[in-house]
Amino acid sequence: MIVPMVTWAAPVKIKFSHVVAENTPKGQAAVKFKELIEQRLPGKVVVEVYPNAQLFGDNKVLEAMLLGDVQMAAPALSKFQKYTKQLQIFDLPFLFDDLEATERFQNGPAGQGLLGSLSKKGLVGLGYLHNGMKQLSASDPIITPTDARGKKFRIMTSDVLQEQFDAVDAVPLKKPFAEVFTLLQTKAIDGQENTYSNMYSQKFFEVQEHITETNHGLLDYLVVTSAEFWMGLPEEMREEIHTALNEAIAHGNQLAFEFDARDRQAILDSGKSKIHTLTPQQREQWVESMRPVWKKFEKEIGADLIDAAVKSNQK
Ligand code: SIN
Repeated sequence: MIVPMVTWAAPVKIKFSHVVAENTPKGQAAVKFKELIEQRLPGKVVVEVYPNAQLFGDNKVLEAMLLGDVQMAAPALSKFQKYTKQLQIFDLPFLFDDLEATERFQNGPAGQGLLGSLSKKGLVGLGYLHNGMKQLSASDPIITPTDARGKKFRIMTSDVLQEQFDAVDAVPLKKPFAEVFTLLQTKAIDGQENTYSNMYSQKFFEVQEHITETNHGLLDYLVVTSAEFWMGLPEEMREEIHTALNEAIAHGNQLAFEFDARDRQAILDSGKSKIHTLTPQQREQWVESMRPVWKKFEKEIGADLIDAAVKSNQK
């Protein structure tokens, strides 16, 4: 009897690892990406999403990617400084007026050029994904820069963010996202900076009585993969995956605007955390204290790039 030989290739597996909850812009973008891939490339590509740092924490995921243990991730732009200095631009305090300005910069030639800034390190930037503008939370009210003096703030692994808190004589501590709630709860630190969606979904608001609406910085992401994985895919499949990813990113970006307002309201409704808005004079004090940080990083980032970002504030 002749047994017909049936051969089929195993589907390509994409492990997508991230550190936030599913009910966030990034969490939802990853879910959307999985859905689109399942619809469009059934049996050919499988996406497994690992939220909440289940697979890798934010300080390990890029190393794991280069080793082939994970194929996609979307770390905060603040977490790439080991791989490129140029992305530090996104951490400069009071650079972008709002998320729309950020979008204009990211979609323009300068922002698009930055997607390739990781190529020498074997990583490919596939697209920007929003979360939102950062606010300050603390156990005491922090209204003017002097209120931050001597207080310990958790920051992401970014020297710009370190300088930003040094500029107001606070004590910045680089810690992984997954540890922040416990650090706040046990009062090992006094505060942190983050978006409303992260503060809500990680329950930071339950252990931080005060939030100051500073909008002083940006929390956005870069969706990345390794060049080895990406270039190893057949071209047609790569294009289909990239198209699906771009659609998932657009979905996440739209949700970023909605979730920011939704989660701000949810925090207010909880009654657990007070949101302080700043007068223009108070805000100006923060700007004056933190703006000198730009100069310190101008050489590494590039003055032209900073100029392009500043111009994106014009509608
Ligand atoms: C994230 O939104 O991915 C984490 C942000 C943080 O580390 O604060």
